[in-house]
Parts: sequence; structure tokens; C-alpha cells
Amino acid sequence: MPERLELRNVGPAPGLDPDLQRRMNLITGDNGLGKSFLLDVAWWALTRKWPRDLNPRLTSGCPARPTDRTSPAKLRFALTTDAGNSRSFESTCSVQDESWTGQPGRPWSPGLVIYAHADGGFSAWDPARNCWRRKGNIDVQERLPGYVFSPQDVWRGLEAPIDGRSTRVCKGLLDDWSGWIREKGENARLMSEVIGALSVRGEPWDVGPLLRLSVDDAQDIPSIRTEYSDAVPIVHASSAVRRITGLAYMLAWSWSEHVRAADQLGLRTAGQAILLFDEIEAHLHPRWQRTIVPAILKVMDRLTHADTGVQLIAATHSALVLAAVEPHFDEERDRLFHLDIRDGEVGLDIVPWAAQGDVLGWLVSDVFGLRQARSIEAERAMDAARACMLGKGLENPEGLRGRDEIHEALCRALPGHDPFWPGWIVRSEQNGRGQ
Ligand SMILES: Nc1ncnc2c1ncn2[C@@H]1O[C@H](COP(=O)(O)OP(=O)(O)OP(=O)(O)O)[C@@H](O)[C@H]1O
Ligand SMILES: [Mg+2]
Repeated sequence: MPERLELRNVGPAPGLDPDLQRRMNLITGDNGLGKSFLLDVAWWALTRKWPRDLNPRLTSGCPARPTDRTSPAKLRFALTTDAGNSRSFESTCSVQDESWTGQPGRPWSPGLVIYAHADGGFSAWDPARNCWRRKGNIDVQERLPGYVFSPQDVWRGLEAPIDGRSTRVCKGLLDDWSGWIREKGENARLMSEVIGALSVRGEPWDVGPLLRLSVDDAQDIPSIRTEYSDAVPIVHASSAVRRITGLAYMLAWSWSEHVRAADQLGLRTAGQAILLFDEIEAHLHPRWQRTIVPAILKVMDRLTHADTGVQLIAATHSALVLAAVEPHFDEERDRLFHLDIRDGEVGLDIVPWAAQGDVLGWLVSDVFGLRQARSIEAERAMDAARACMLGKGLENPEGLRGRDEIHEALCRALPGHDPFWPGWIVRSEQNGRGQ
């Protein structure tokens, strides 16, 4: 698993050096500061391929381009290999070749790596199926360098070139899950268990009958029962349900295919599993945002063997995700990162862990940096009211003229029970009397 990444002259920051913890790493920061890019670099450090190079249908995961093409661009990383050895490597970008220098010889195996992209695509690197194979005593690089799924491929299956032939390397969620349901075997049970653990109530969804969407379409579609229907075809399910179903399938598929391949090749199963997760809260209702991170850690532990080290590196914009991990956060194993702009440059901080208690606390903490967890109008009206109460003149920077205008703005922006009212009303009356 990755321990440290070093980026120089690539991405939005001139340099970043995240030291990662061995279990949970959460990356926060404003839009466009490089959270997804950092995950792309982590994937590259582990697999030495850029996702987009392996599947052009992906909308993210492009090869890193130097920021200043006249200066050296470097990516350095240190990791613990699946065999438990510490290794580090430095790669520089060749501007002429538009590529990153590689390391000669067999790449180290980092363990099983799964990357959940923000748009619903996934990438997976399997130490049994993607690592070089050995012919006689010679390492040969003729396996697939990784599985990279666009959102469409997750559902309909993935084809990749093997020995010059386009080969269906994954049947996709619809075919696999339908087949598993028909077989009523171990995979159906595993899928149901993973969905159950990831679901908001921690219970498996009730699986309905296999459906056909049209008489002209032979594709069997699994369905789920909901509170209002006995059979919602999974392709019609909500964005959140589809996102979690895709994740459950990718986790179940990656791990079960890995175990099968390792068994077939006489290899041991991965000692490490790394999950890179972009926008971990995407599509999820607050109720679900509250459970998702602990659920993912639990599922990864449950899927893999007891001694498999599980590392999560996730980007989030959600204050609720952070509030929800408070009881689980262990400073010995977990870390919170924050990307921020200082003096016009993007930098990455390790946030000293301090529980904030609730969503409000996180929103007004340095991590999210809001002055108020309210509307802009409320914040401005309150600023103007405070300035007025402190006697800083009735002309305030918000352009609200006079106590009456401020009062009107407060009425529009604050609910009647807001704790700001008593102070404002008392002070207004005192000032009114004083005039
Ligand atoms: N392949 C790349 N090579 C070089 N720089 C890149 C590359 N991809 C992204 N960037 C840089 O990263 C910036 C965007 O970063 P990124 O998409 O990681 O932001 P983010 O923090 O994930 O934002 P959001 O919260 O909106 O998802 C771009 O503006 C660009 O400067
Ligand atoms: Mg992003």
C-alpha cells in the first residue's frame, strides 16, 4: 500500500507530499484543487498506468502533464509491497516522449487495488491477473495491465485486447448478477451480503424477479423490491442505488475473481487491498452519507481475509461524512488531509484530528472554511447587524442602509426561532431609545 507520494511540477500544486496512513485517508478541499488528481496519481503509483490510457471511454484519469514544461516534473512514491517490502521509485516526465519514465523489470505488486471514479467508472488491478507472468524462469509482460471500466462497462461488460484479440474480460453487472441469481450460489450470496452491508439500513435489498425491459431485448435485468414496488429493474433504480450496486458488484467481482485466479495459478491471495474512492458521498442522501465510510471499511474487511491490510483513500466534500467517521477515527491508522490555497499556491495539510461534534462544527471548521453554515444572505445580514450593534455606523459594507433595512434583511434570511434575534432586538431597542 502507498505510504508516501511526492508530486513536483504536476497538477494544480507546485509540490505535494502526502504521507498516508495505513487505514483511512480522507482528502478534503475546494473544487479544482486536485483531490481527484491525487487519487489518479495514487493509482498510477500502484499500477504504473493511467486509467484513461487503458480505456479512452473514461472521462477522468488522464496522464499527468507537467505544469511548466521547461522544468522537470517528478512523481516519487514509497509503498509497502504485497510481500511486505518497502520500496520507492522516482519517475520523471519526458516532455519529448510525453511519458513518465518506467522502472525496468517486473513491477512490484501492491496488492489488490480498486479505484471508484467520480463518474461511476471503476478501475481494478489484480495481483493474480494483472501482474507479469513467469514463463520458464523469465518474466513476461503479457497480461492485461489493469481493468478500467467506464460506467457503461461496469453494467454491460468490459472488452480488452489480449494477444491482439478483443476479449470479454468481465461480463458486467447485468449478466453476472442475473447469472448469480439464477445459480443461487456463493456469488449471489456474496453480492447480497455486500449490498446489505453498504445499504443505508445495513440490510440486503430484497431481490425481485429477473425482468426484460422489452420483448426485443434479450438482456435479463435483476430487480429489487422497494417500499412502493415489487420489482424495480436495477437499471431504473435511483442514482444512489445504482452507484452502490455498481460498487458492490465491483468489490464482489474484483475479490472473487482474484481469489479464483490466485487459486488457479497457485498464488497466494492479496495481503493488501487498497480502495481509492472519489466523491465517496456522490448521490447519497444524508442518511446514507452517515453510514457509507464505516460500511465500506467493514465490507472490505469482511470480503478480504482476516490478515489482509485494507487501506481507503477517499476524496469528499461532505461535512456529514466527516461527522460520521468521528467515532471510528483512529489517529494511529487514519488521517485527514486538506487541500487549500495559500499565497496563490495550492498546498496540502494534514489536519490535526479534532472531533467537531456535528455537521455545523465541520462546516465552520478550517476544513470547509464557511464563516456561517447558512445562506449568503443570512451571513451578510448578520454581519451588517453586528457592525451596527458594535456602533460601527449604519453604513455597512453590505450596503444595507439603516437599522430598518438590516432588520428587513434579517427577517428575510433568519427563521423566527434563530438565537440571533434576542440580541439584535434588545440592542436595537436600546439604540433606538438612545437616539
Ligand atoms: N492529468 C492532469 N495533468 C496535470 N494536471 C491535471 C491533470 N488532471 C487534472 N489536473 C489539474 O488538477 C485540477 C483539477 O483537479 P481535480 O479534478 O483533481 O480537482 P478536485 O479537487 O477533484 O475538484 P472537484 O472537487 O471539483 O472534483 C485541474 O484544474 C488541473 O490543474
Ligand atoms: Mg474531483
